[in-house]
Amino acid sequence: MTALTLSTAAVAGLRADAIVIGVAKSSASKPGGPVVAPGAEAVDQAYDGNLAGVLETLGASGAEGEVTKLPAPAGFKAPLVVAVGLGAQPRENSGYDAEALRKAAGAAARALTGTKKAAFALPLADAADAGAVAEGVLLGAYSFDAYKDKGDAKNGKAPLAEAALLGGKPRDKAYKAAVERAVAVSEELNRARDLINTPPNDLNPEAFAAIAQAAAKEHGIKVQVLDEKALVKGGYGGILGVGAGSASGPRLVKLSYTSSKAKKHLALVGKGITYDSGGISLKPAGHNETMKCDMSGAAAVFAAVVAAARLGLEANVTGWLALAENMPSGSATRPGDVLRMYSGKTVEVLNTDAEGRLVLADALWAASQEKPDAIVDVATLTGAMVLALGSRTFGIMANDDDFRAVVQEAAEEAGEPAWPMPLPEHLRKGMESSTADIANMGERMGGGLVAGLFLREFVGEGITWAHLDIAGPAFNEGGPFGYTPKGGTGSAVRTLVRLAERAAAGELS
Ligand code: BES
Ligand code: MN
Ligand code: ZN
Repeated sequence: MTALTLSTAAVAGLRADAIVIGVAKSSASKPGGPVVAPGAEAVDQAYDGNLAGVLETLGASGAEGEVTKLPAPAGFKAPLVVAVGLGAQPRENSGYDAEALRKAAGAAARALTGTKKAAFALPLADAADAGAVAEGVLLGAYSFDAYKDKGDAKNGKAPLAEAALLGGKPRDKAYKAAVERAVAVSEELNRARDLINTPPNDLNPEAFAAIAQAAAKEHGIKVQVLDEKALVKGGYGGILGVGAGSASGPRLVKLSYTSSKAKKHLALVGKGITYDSGGISLKPAGHNETMKCDMSGAAAVFAAVVAAARLGLEANVTGWLALAENMPSGSATRPGDVLRMYSGKTVEVLNTDAEGRLVLADALWAASQEKPDAIVDVATLTGAMVLALGSRTFGIMANDDDFRAVVQEAAEEAGEPAWPMPLPEHLRKGMESSTADIANMGERMGGGLVAGLFLREFVGEGITWAHLDIAGPAFNEGGPFGYTPKGGTGSAVRTLVRLAERAAAGELS
Protein backbone atom coordinates (compact mmCIF):
# COMPACT_ATOMS: atom_id res chain seq x y z
CA MET A 1 0.00 0.00 0.00
CA THR A 2 1.02 3.61 -0.51
CA ALA A 3 3.31 4.93 2.26
CA LEU A 4 1.87 8.02 3.96
CA THR A 5 3.57 10.85 5.85
CA LEU A 6 2.41 14.15 7.31
CA SER A 7 4.81 16.88 6.20
CA THR A 8 5.39 20.58 6.83
CA ALA A 9 7.78 20.98 3.90
CA ALA A 10 7.35 24.02 1.66
CA VAL A 11 5.82 23.05 -1.66
CA ALA A 12 8.41 24.62 -3.94
CA GLY A 13 11.42 22.83 -2.45
CA LEU A 14 9.72 19.47 -2.12
CA ARG A 15 11.31 16.53 -3.90
CA ALA A 16 8.34 14.74 -5.43
CA ASP A 17 7.07 13.68 -8.82
CA ALA A 18 3.86 15.66 -8.49
CA ILE A 19 2.00 18.17 -6.34
CA VAL A 20 -1.72 17.68 -5.94
CA ILE A 21 -3.89 20.76 -5.38
CA GLY A 22 -7.64 21.25 -5.13
CA VAL A 23 -9.84 23.24 -7.46
CA ALA A 24 -13.54 23.93 -6.88
CA LYS A 25 -16.49 25.17 -8.90
CA SER A 26 -17.29 28.78 -8.10
CA SER A 27 -20.38 29.22 -5.96
CA ALA A 28 -23.73 30.13 -7.48
CA SER A 29 -23.76 33.40 -5.52
CA LYS A 30 -20.48 34.49 -7.14
CA PRO A 31 -20.44 32.79 -10.55
CA GLY A 32 -17.14 32.62 -12.39
CA GLY A 33 -14.34 30.26 -13.38
CA PRO A 34 -12.73 27.59 -11.25
CA VAL A 35 -11.57 28.52 -7.75
CA VAL A 36 -8.22 27.38 -6.36
CA ALA A 37 -8.73 25.74 -2.94
CA PRO A 38 -6.72 26.63 0.17
CA GLY A 39 -3.46 24.70 0.39
CA ALA A 40 -2.36 25.75 -3.08
CA GLU A 41 -1.36 29.35 -2.20
CA ALA A 42 2.34 28.82 -2.92
CA VAL A 43 1.58 27.24 -6.27
CA ASP A 44 -0.81 30.08 -7.11
CA GLN A 45 1.83 32.71 -6.21
CA ALA A 46 4.38 31.00 -8.44
CA TYR A 47 1.83 31.37 -11.24
CA ASP A 48 1.70 35.12 -10.43
CA GLY A 49 -1.63 34.66 -8.69
CA ASN A 50 -3.24 33.52 -11.92
CA LEU A 51 -3.48 29.76 -11.29
CA ALA A 52 -7.28 29.88 -11.56
CA GLY A 53 -6.97 31.54 -14.96
CA VAL A 54 -4.39 29.00 -16.14
CA LEU A 55 -6.67 26.16 -15.04
CA GLU A 56 -9.65 27.74 -16.80
CA THR A 57 -7.57 28.02 -20.00
CA LEU A 58 -6.89 24.28 -19.69
CA GLY A 59 -10.62 23.64 -19.48
CA ALA A 60 -10.83 22.95 -15.75
CA SER A 61 -14.13 23.70 -14.03
CA GLY A 62 -13.52 22.23 -10.57
CA ALA A 63 -16.13 19.50 -11.07
CA GLU A 64 -15.90 16.47 -8.81
CA GLY A 65 -13.47 13.85 -10.13
CA GLU A 66 -11.94 16.16 -12.76
CA VAL A 67 -8.15 15.86 -13.08
CA THR A 68 -6.08 18.56 -14.83
CA LYS A 69 -2.33 18.16 -15.20
CA LEU A 70 -0.05 21.16 -15.76
CA PRO A 71 3.70 21.71 -15.63
CA ALA A 72 4.92 23.01 -12.28
CA PRO A 73 6.04 26.66 -12.23
CA ALA A 74 9.73 27.59 -12.54
CA GLY A 75 11.68 27.09 -9.33
CA PHE A 76 9.67 24.06 -8.19
CA LYS A 77 11.55 20.81 -7.62
CA ALA A 78 8.50 18.72 -8.56
CA PRO A 79 7.84 18.75 -12.31
CA LEU A 80 4.06 18.32 -12.28
CA VAL A 81 0.99 19.89 -10.71
CA VAL A 82 -2.20 17.84 -10.61
CA ALA A 83 -5.34 19.90 -9.99
CA VAL A 84 -8.20 17.73 -8.82
CA GLY A 85 -11.84 18.80 -8.77
CA LEU A 86 -13.53 19.17 -5.38
CA GLY A 87 -17.00 19.96 -6.74
CA ALA A 88 -19.00 22.93 -5.48
CA GLN A 89 -17.12 25.48 -3.41
CA PRO A 90 -18.40 25.34 0.20
CA ARG A 91 -20.42 28.22 1.53
CA GLU A 92 -18.50 31.01 3.20
CA ASN A 93 -17.13 30.12 6.64
CA SER A 94 -17.53 26.40 6.12
CA GLY A 95 -14.83 24.03 4.96
CA TYR A 96 -14.81 21.35 2.29
CA ASP A 97 -16.67 18.28 3.46
CA ALA A 98 -14.66 15.20 4.29
CA GLU A 99 -16.21 13.11 1.53
CA ALA A 100 -15.33 15.70 -1.15
CA LEU A 101 -11.72 15.58 0.06
CA ARG A 102 -11.73 11.77 0.18
CA LYS A 103 -13.05 11.52 -3.38
CA ALA A 104 -10.65 14.14 -4.74
CA ALA A 105 -7.65 12.52 -3.05
CA GLY A 106 -8.75 9.17 -4.46
CA ALA A 107 -9.15 10.48 -8.00
CA ALA A 108 -5.72 12.12 -7.82
CA ALA A 109 -4.07 8.98 -6.43
CA ARG A 110 -5.58 6.99 -9.29
CA ALA A 111 -4.39 9.54 -11.86
CA LEU A 112 -0.89 9.20 -10.37
CA THR A 113 -0.63 5.44 -10.96
CA GLY A 114 2.94 4.72 -12.05
CA THR A 115 4.27 7.69 -10.03
CA LYS A 116 6.66 7.22 -7.13
CA LYS A 117 6.00 10.16 -4.85
CA ALA A 118 3.30 12.83 -4.71
CA ALA A 119 2.67 15.67 -2.27
CA PHE A 120 -0.99 16.40 -1.49
CA ALA A 121 -1.65 20.10 -0.84
CA LEU A 122 -5.43 19.85 -0.36
CA PRO A 123 -7.42 22.10 2.01
CA LEU A 124 -7.15 20.63 5.52
CA ALA A 125 -9.20 22.45 8.17
CA ASP A 126 -8.66 19.89 10.91
CA ALA A 127 -7.38 16.43 11.80
CA ALA A 128 -10.52 14.76 10.45
CA ASP A 129 -9.80 16.29 7.03
CA ALA A 130 -6.27 14.87 7.14
CA GLY A 131 -7.79 11.46 7.91
CA ALA A 132 -10.19 11.81 4.98
CA VAL A 133 -7.42 12.72 2.53
CA ALA A 134 -5.32 9.82 3.84
CA GLU A 135 -8.22 7.41 3.31
CA GLY A 136 -8.86 8.80 -0.16
CA VAL A 137 -5.22 8.31 -1.17
CA LEU A 138 -4.90 4.79 0.27
CA LEU A 139 -8.24 3.60 -1.13
CA GLY A 140 -7.85 5.38 -4.48
CA ALA A 141 -4.37 3.97 -5.12
CA TYR A 142 -5.64 0.39 -4.73
CA SER A 143 -5.19 -2.05 -7.58
CA PHE A 144 -5.69 -5.79 -7.86
CA ASP A 145 -3.04 -7.39 -10.02
CA ALA A 146 -2.30 -10.66 -8.21
CA TYR A 147 -3.26 -12.61 -11.34
CA LYS A 148 -1.39 -10.50 -13.89
CA ASP A 149 2.10 -11.03 -15.23
CA LYS A 150 4.08 -8.22 -13.63
CA GLY A 151 6.83 -8.55 -16.22
CA ASP A 152 4.38 -7.57 -18.95
CA ALA A 153 4.40 -3.80 -19.47
CA LYS A 154 0.86 -3.93 -20.93
CA ASN A 155 -0.43 -4.85 -17.50
CA GLY A 156 -0.24 -1.36 -16.21
CA LYS A 157 1.91 0.55 -13.81
CA ALA A 158 2.44 0.22 -10.09
CA PRO A 159 0.20 2.18 -7.74
CA LEU A 160 1.43 5.46 -6.24
CA ALA A 161 4.21 4.44 -3.83
CA GLU A 162 4.51 7.43 -1.51
CA ALA A 163 2.26 10.30 -0.48
CA ALA A 164 3.16 13.29 1.71
CA LEU A 165 0.20 15.19 3.16
CA LEU A 166 0.98 18.90 3.37
CA GLY A 167 -0.82 21.46 5.49
CA GLY A 168 -1.38 19.12 8.41
CA LYS A 169 0.27 19.19 11.81
CA PRO A 170 2.66 16.23 12.00
CA ARG A 171 3.33 16.70 15.71
CA ASP A 172 -0.31 17.20 16.68
CA LYS A 173 -1.74 14.10 18.41
CA ALA A 174 -5.12 14.42 16.72
CA TYR A 175 -3.57 14.60 13.23
CA LYS A 176 -1.33 11.61 13.93
CA ALA A 177 -4.25 9.60 15.30
CA ALA A 178 -6.44 10.48 12.31
CA VAL A 179 -3.79 9.29 9.86
CA GLU A 180 -3.11 6.12 11.87
CA ARG A 181 -6.82 5.36 11.89
CA ALA A 182 -7.02 5.94 8.14
CA VAL A 183 -4.09 3.57 7.57
CA ALA A 184 -5.59 0.77 9.70
CA VAL A 185 -9.08 1.07 8.20
CA SER A 186 -7.84 1.45 4.60
CA GLU A 187 -5.43 -1.48 4.88
CA GLU A 188 -8.18 -3.77 6.13
CA LEU A 189 -10.67 -2.39 3.60
CA ASN A 190 -8.19 -3.03 0.79
CA ARG A 191 -7.72 -6.55 2.08
CA ALA A 192 -11.50 -7.03 1.90
CA ARG A 193 -11.30 -5.85 -1.73
CA ASP A 194 -8.56 -8.41 -2.41
CA LEU A 195 -10.73 -11.19 -0.99
CA ILE A 196 -13.72 -10.08 -3.10
CA ASN A 197 -11.61 -9.87 -6.26
CA THR A 198 -9.91 -13.24 -5.71
CA PRO A 199 -11.44 -15.73 -8.14
CA PRO A 200 -13.75 -18.33 -6.58
CA ASN A 201 -11.55 -21.27 -7.60
CA ASP A 202 -8.96 -19.90 -5.18
CA LEU A 203 -11.21 -18.46 -2.48
CA ASN A 204 -13.50 -21.22 -1.24
CA PRO A 205 -14.93 -21.35 2.30
CA GLU A 206 -11.95 -23.29 3.64
CA ALA A 207 -9.43 -20.81 2.17
CA PHE A 208 -11.38 -17.79 3.48
CA ALA A 209 -11.54 -19.37 6.95
CA ALA A 210 -7.79 -19.99 6.92
CA ILE A 211 -7.10 -16.35 5.99
CA ALA A 212 -9.41 -15.15 8.78
CA GLN A 213 -7.72 -17.50 11.23
CA ALA A 214 -4.23 -16.21 10.38
CA ALA A 215 -5.27 -12.55 10.62
CA ALA A 216 -7.03 -13.16 13.93
CA LYS A 217 -3.87 -14.71 15.39
CA GLU A 218 -1.80 -11.77 14.18
CA HIS A 219 -4.08 -9.22 15.86
CA GLY A 220 -4.95 -10.98 19.10
CA ILE A 221 -8.51 -11.83 18.07
CA LYS A 222 -10.01 -15.09 19.31
CA VAL A 223 -11.10 -17.25 16.41
CA GLN A 224 -13.24 -20.34 16.14
CA VAL A 225 -13.90 -22.17 12.87
CA LEU A 226 -16.77 -24.63 12.62
CA ASP A 227 -16.08 -27.05 9.77
CA GLU A 228 -18.67 -29.28 8.13
CA LYS A 229 -18.48 -31.90 10.86
CA ALA A 230 -18.94 -29.33 13.60
CA LEU A 231 -21.81 -27.71 11.67
CA VAL A 232 -23.58 -31.07 11.42
CA LYS A 233 -23.05 -31.68 15.12
CA GLY A 234 -24.37 -28.22 15.97
CA GLY A 235 -27.42 -28.47 13.70
CA TYR A 236 -26.61 -25.58 11.35
CA GLY A 237 -29.07 -26.71 8.68
CA GLY A 238 -29.10 -23.43 6.78
CA ILE A 239 -25.36 -23.20 6.18
CA LEU A 240 -25.14 -26.94 5.46
CA GLY A 241 -28.09 -26.84 3.07
CA VAL A 242 -26.52 -24.07 0.99
CA GLY A 243 -23.09 -25.75 0.97
CA ALA A 244 -24.47 -29.21 0.19
CA GLY A 245 -23.88 -29.04 -3.56
CA SER A 246 -20.28 -27.92 -3.44
CA ALA A 247 -17.08 -29.94 -3.40
CA SER A 248 -15.76 -27.29 -0.97
CA GLY A 249 -17.56 -27.63 2.35
CA PRO A 250 -19.07 -24.68 4.25
CA ARG A 251 -17.62 -23.01 7.36
CA LEU A 252 -18.85 -20.74 10.12
CA VAL A 253 -16.09 -18.49 11.44
CA LYS A 254 -16.46 -16.62 14.72
CA LEU A 255 -14.01 -13.78 15.41
CA SER A 256 -14.10 -12.31 18.92
CA TYR A 257 -12.32 -9.06 19.63
CA THR A 258 -12.66 -8.13 23.30
CA SER A 259 -11.55 -5.14 25.32
CA SER A 260 -11.24 -5.12 29.10
CA LYS A 261 -12.81 -1.65 29.04
CA ALA A 262 -15.78 -2.61 26.86
CA LYS A 263 -19.19 -1.24 27.79
CA LYS A 264 -20.99 -2.49 24.69
CA HIS A 265 -21.01 -5.65 22.60
CA LEU A 266 -21.57 -5.32 18.86
CA ALA A 267 -22.09 -8.46 16.77
CA LEU A 268 -21.48 -8.35 13.01
CA VAL A 269 -22.75 -11.07 10.67
CA GLY A 270 -21.57 -11.38 7.07
CA LYS A 271 -22.92 -13.31 4.09
CA GLY A 272 -19.97 -15.25 2.71
CA ILE A 273 -21.08 -17.10 -0.41
CA THR A 274 -17.69 -17.54 -2.11
CA TYR A 275 -19.54 -18.23 -5.36
CA ASP A 276 -23.27 -18.01 -6.06
CA SER A 277 -24.20 -20.06 -9.11
CA GLY A 278 -27.80 -20.10 -7.90
CA GLY A 279 -27.56 -23.83 -7.17
CA ILE A 280 -30.24 -26.07 -8.74
CA SER A 281 -32.19 -22.85 -9.41
CA LEU A 282 -29.21 -22.02 -11.61
CA LYS A 283 -28.63 -18.42 -12.61
CA PRO A 284 -28.70 -17.86 -16.39
CA ALA A 285 -25.55 -16.80 -18.24
CA GLY A 286 -25.05 -13.08 -17.77
CA HIS A 287 -26.01 -13.27 -14.09
CA ASN A 288 -23.22 -15.34 -12.59
CA GLU A 289 -20.00 -13.86 -13.96
CA THR A 290 -19.55 -11.50 -11.01
CA MET A 291 -20.91 -13.81 -8.32
CA LYS A 292 -17.51 -14.22 -6.69
CA CYS A 293 -18.57 -10.95 -5.04
CA ASP A 294 -21.23 -12.73 -3.00
CA MET A 295 -18.92 -12.96 0.02
CA SER A 296 -18.56 -9.16 0.23
CA GLY A 297 -20.59 -9.03 3.46
CA ALA A 298 -18.29 -11.51 5.18
CA ALA A 299 -15.24 -9.67 3.84
CA ALA A 300 -16.60 -6.40 5.28
CA VAL A 301 -17.26 -7.99 8.68
CA PHE A 302 -13.80 -9.55 8.72
CA ALA A 303 -12.15 -6.23 7.84
CA ALA A 304 -14.16 -4.32 10.45
CA VAL A 305 -13.31 -6.73 13.29
CA VAL A 306 -9.59 -6.63 12.46
CA ALA A 307 -9.72 -2.81 12.16
CA ALA A 308 -11.46 -2.60 15.57
CA ALA A 309 -8.65 -4.70 17.05
CA ARG A 310 -5.93 -2.61 15.38
CA LEU A 311 -7.55 0.57 16.70
CA GLY A 312 -7.81 -0.96 20.18
CA LEU A 313 -11.45 0.12 20.46
CA GLU A 314 -12.98 -0.16 23.92
CA ALA A 315 -15.81 -2.41 22.80
CA ASN A 316 -16.43 -6.08 22.28
CA VAL A 317 -16.88 -6.80 18.59
CA THR A 318 -17.79 -10.28 17.41
CA GLY A 319 -17.73 -11.16 13.73
CA TRP A 320 -19.58 -14.11 12.24
CA LEU A 321 -18.61 -15.20 8.72
CA ALA A 322 -21.20 -17.54 7.18
CA LEU A 323 -19.17 -19.19 4.42
CA ALA A 324 -20.50 -21.56 1.74
CA GLU A 325 -20.34 -22.11 -2.00
CA ASN A 326 -23.73 -22.34 -3.73
CA MET A 327 -23.39 -24.99 -6.45
CA PRO A 328 -25.68 -27.42 -8.28
CA SER A 329 -24.80 -31.12 -8.07
CA GLY A 330 -26.25 -34.50 -7.13
CA SER A 331 -25.83 -33.63 -3.47
CA ALA A 332 -27.22 -30.11 -3.74
CA THR A 333 -30.33 -28.88 -1.94
CA ARG A 334 -33.36 -29.07 -4.28
CA PRO A 335 -36.22 -26.61 -4.61
CA GLY A 336 -38.81 -28.33 -2.42
CA ASP A 337 -36.38 -29.53 0.25
CA VAL A 338 -37.00 -28.57 3.86
CA LEU A 339 -34.07 -27.53 6.06
CA ARG A 340 -34.05 -27.59 9.83
CA MET A 341 -32.24 -24.42 10.81
CA TYR A 342 -29.91 -23.80 13.78
CA SER A 343 -32.78 -21.95 15.50
CA GLY A 344 -34.96 -25.06 15.21
CA LYS A 345 -37.31 -23.50 12.66
CA THR A 346 -37.92 -25.35 9.40
CA VAL A 347 -37.54 -23.65 6.01
CA GLU A 348 -38.96 -24.85 2.72
CA VAL A 349 -36.42 -23.99 0.04
CA LEU A 350 -38.47 -22.88 -2.95
CA ASN A 351 -35.55 -21.29 -4.74
CA THR A 352 -31.95 -22.36 -4.10
CA ASP A 353 -30.79 -18.97 -5.39
CA ALA A 354 -32.25 -17.33 -2.29
CA GLU A 355 -29.34 -18.85 -0.35
CA GLY A 356 -27.93 -15.82 1.45
CA ARG A 357 -30.84 -15.59 3.89
CA LEU A 358 -30.34 -19.29 4.75
CA VAL A 359 -26.69 -18.98 5.80
CA LEU A 360 -27.39 -15.66 7.54
CA ALA A 361 -30.32 -17.14 9.47
CA ASP A 362 -28.02 -19.66 11.18
CA ALA A 363 -25.33 -17.05 11.87
CA LEU A 364 -27.88 -14.52 13.21
CA TRP A 365 -29.25 -17.14 15.58
CA ALA A 366 -25.73 -18.09 16.68
CA ALA A 367 -24.87 -14.40 17.24
CA SER A 368 -28.11 -13.94 19.21
CA GLN A 369 -27.11 -16.61 21.75
CA GLU A 370 -24.50 -14.22 23.18
CA LYS A 371 -27.13 -11.50 23.69
CA PRO A 372 -25.07 -8.66 22.21
CA ASP A 373 -26.31 -5.06 22.50
CA ALA A 374 -26.89 -5.03 18.75
CA ILE A 375 -26.45 -7.22 15.69
CA VAL A 376 -25.72 -5.83 12.23
CA ASP A 377 -25.68 -8.16 9.26
CA VAL A 378 -24.17 -7.27 5.88
CA ALA A 379 -25.04 -9.08 2.67
CA THR A 380 -25.15 -8.91 -1.10
CA LEU A 381 -28.65 -10.23 -0.61
CA THR A 382 -31.02 -9.24 -3.39
CA GLY A 383 -31.11 -8.01 -6.97
CA ALA A 384 -34.27 -6.18 -5.91
CA MET A 385 -32.22 -3.84 -3.71
CA VAL A 386 -30.06 -2.95 -6.73
CA LEU A 387 -33.22 -2.15 -8.70
CA ALA A 388 -34.48 0.01 -5.83
CA LEU A 389 -31.36 1.96 -4.89
CA GLY A 390 -28.95 1.58 -7.80
CA SER A 391 -25.35 0.51 -7.76
CA ARG A 392 -23.88 2.93 -5.20
CA THR A 393 -26.32 2.96 -2.27
CA PHE A 394 -27.00 0.22 0.24
CA GLY A 395 -30.32 -0.34 1.97
CA ILE A 396 -30.72 -0.38 5.75
CA MET A 397 -33.53 -2.36 7.39
CA ALA A 398 -33.95 -2.85 11.13
CA ASN A 399 -36.28 -4.07 13.86
CA ASP A 400 -35.78 -0.73 15.67
CA ASP A 401 -36.28 2.72 14.09
CA ASP A 402 -33.75 4.44 16.35
CA PHE A 403 -31.05 1.90 15.62
CA ARG A 404 -31.71 2.15 11.89
CA ALA A 405 -31.11 5.90 12.23
CA VAL A 406 -27.89 5.25 14.18
CA VAL A 407 -26.64 2.99 11.38
CA GLN A 408 -27.53 5.56 8.74
CA GLU A 409 -25.71 8.25 10.67
CA ALA A 410 -22.64 6.00 10.91
CA ALA A 411 -22.79 5.49 7.13
CA GLU A 412 -23.03 9.24 6.58
CA GLU A 413 -20.05 9.89 8.85
CA ALA A 414 -18.09 7.26 6.95
CA GLY A 415 -19.00 8.74 3.56
CA GLU A 416 -21.01 5.71 2.41
CA PRO A 417 -24.33 6.32 0.61
CA ALA A 418 -27.07 4.41 2.43
CA TRP A 419 -30.84 4.67 2.66
CA PRO A 420 -33.47 3.37 5.12
CA MET A 421 -35.90 0.73 3.82
CA PRO A 422 -39.06 -0.53 5.57
CA LEU A 423 -40.04 -4.04 6.66
CA PRO A 424 -43.76 -4.02 5.74
CA GLU A 425 -45.60 -6.62 7.82
CA HIS A 426 -47.99 -7.57 5.00
CA LEU A 427 -45.12 -9.09 3.01
CA ARG A 428 -44.62 -11.81 5.65
CA LYS A 429 -47.59 -13.87 4.44
CA GLY A 430 -46.01 -14.39 1.02
CA MET A 431 -43.43 -16.59 2.75
CA GLU A 432 -46.02 -18.92 4.32
CA SER A 433 -45.27 -22.54 3.49
CA SER A 434 -47.74 -25.41 3.51
CA THR A 435 -44.98 -27.78 4.64
CA ALA A 436 -42.56 -25.84 6.83
CA ASP A 437 -42.53 -22.90 9.26
CA ILE A 438 -41.51 -20.50 6.51
CA ALA A 439 -40.41 -20.55 2.85
CA ASN A 440 -37.21 -18.89 1.64
CA MET A 441 -39.13 -16.90 -0.99
CA GLY A 442 -42.11 -14.60 -0.99
CA GLU A 443 -43.61 -11.98 -3.27
CA ARG A 444 -41.32 -10.84 -6.06
CA MET A 445 -42.23 -7.20 -5.62
CA GLY A 446 -40.28 -5.70 -2.74
CA GLY A 447 -37.91 -8.69 -2.82
CA GLY A 448 -35.26 -6.88 -0.76
CA LEU A 449 -37.76 -6.21 2.02
CA VAL A 450 -39.07 -9.79 1.89
CA ALA A 451 -35.49 -10.99 2.46
CA GLY A 452 -35.18 -8.59 5.40
CA LEU A 453 -38.40 -9.93 6.92
CA PHE A 454 -37.08 -13.47 6.56
CA LEU A 455 -33.86 -12.58 8.43
CA ARG A 456 -35.82 -10.86 11.21
CA GLU A 457 -37.35 -14.23 12.14
CA PHE A 458 -33.90 -15.52 13.12
CA VAL A 459 -32.88 -12.67 15.41
CA GLY A 460 -33.19 -13.55 19.08
CA GLU A 461 -36.12 -12.08 21.03
CA GLY A 462 -35.48 -8.52 22.21
CA ILE A 463 -32.18 -8.05 20.34
CA THR A 464 -31.64 -4.85 18.39
CA TRP A 465 -30.79 -5.70 14.79
CA ALA A 466 -30.08 -4.01 11.47
CA HIS A 467 -29.57 -5.51 8.02
CA LEU A 468 -27.48 -3.88 5.29
CA ASP A 469 -28.21 -5.08 1.74
CA ILE A 470 -25.07 -4.10 -0.16
CA ALA A 471 -25.88 -5.97 -3.41
CA GLY A 472 -25.59 -2.68 -5.35
CA PRO A 473 -22.38 -1.05 -4.08
CA ALA A 474 -20.34 -4.18 -3.19
CA PHE A 475 -18.95 -4.71 -6.66
CA ASN A 476 -18.30 -1.93 -9.17
CA GLU A 477 -18.92 -3.22 -12.69
CA GLY A 478 -18.39 0.23 -14.19
CA GLY A 479 -15.27 2.34 -14.35
CA PRO A 480 -13.45 3.59 -11.25
CA PHE A 481 -14.62 6.85 -9.62
CA GLY A 482 -13.27 8.87 -6.69
CA TYR A 483 -11.59 6.36 -4.38
CA THR A 484 -13.72 3.45 -5.67
CA PRO A 485 -11.97 1.01 -7.99
CA LYS A 486 -13.48 -1.38 -10.49
CA GLY A 487 -14.44 -4.72 -8.90
CA GLY A 488 -14.68 -5.26 -5.14
CA THR A 489 -15.27 -1.96 -3.35
CA GLY A 490 -15.15 -2.81 0.37
CA SER A 491 -18.66 -1.43 0.82
CA ALA A 492 -19.89 -1.21 4.45
CA VAL A 493 -16.43 -1.63 6.04
CA ARG A 494 -16.19 2.03 7.06
CA THR A 495 -19.79 2.09 8.30
CA LEU A 496 -19.14 -0.96 10.49
CA VAL A 497 -15.95 0.60 11.88
CA ARG A 498 -17.92 3.77 12.74
CA LEU A 499 -20.50 1.59 14.53
CA ALA A 500 -17.74 -0.15 16.49
CA GLU A 501 -16.39 3.29 17.43
CA ARG A 502 -19.85 4.32 18.57
CA ALA A 503 -20.04 1.14 20.64
CA ALA A 504 -16.71 2.10 22.21
CA ALA A 505 -18.16 5.51 23.06
CA GLY A 506 -21.18 3.78 24.60
CA GLU A 507 -23.47 5.28 21.93
CA LEU A 508 -24.66 2.20 20.13
CA SER A 509 -28.39 2.23 20.83
N1 BES B 1 -26.36 -13.01 -4.52
C1 BES B 1 -27.66 -12.78 -5.04
C2 BES B 1 -28.06 -11.31 -5.04
C3 BES B 1 -27.24 -10.37 -5.89
C4 BES B 1 -27.73 -9.94 -7.10
C5 BES B 1 -26.04 -9.86 -5.43
C6 BES B 1 -26.99 -9.04 -7.86
C7 BES B 1 -25.30 -8.97 -6.20
C8 BES B 1 -25.78 -8.55 -7.41
C9 BES B 1 -28.69 -13.54 -4.20
O1 BES B 1 -28.24 -14.73 -3.63
C10 BES B 1 -29.81 -13.90 -5.09
O2 BES B 1 -29.61 -14.67 -5.98
N2 BES B 1 -30.99 -13.35 -4.81
C11 BES B 1 -32.16 -13.61 -5.59
C12 BES B 1 -33.30 -13.90 -4.63
C13 BES B 1 -34.53 -14.45 -5.29
C14 BES B 1 -34.27 -15.83 -5.85
C15 BES B 1 -35.65 -14.50 -4.26
C16 BES B 1 -32.45 -12.37 -6.42
O3 BES B 1 -32.25 -11.26 -5.95
O4 BES B 1 -32.85 -12.54 -7.57
MN1 MN C 1 -28.38 -16.38 -4.93
ZN1 ZN D 1 -26.26 -14.84 -3.24
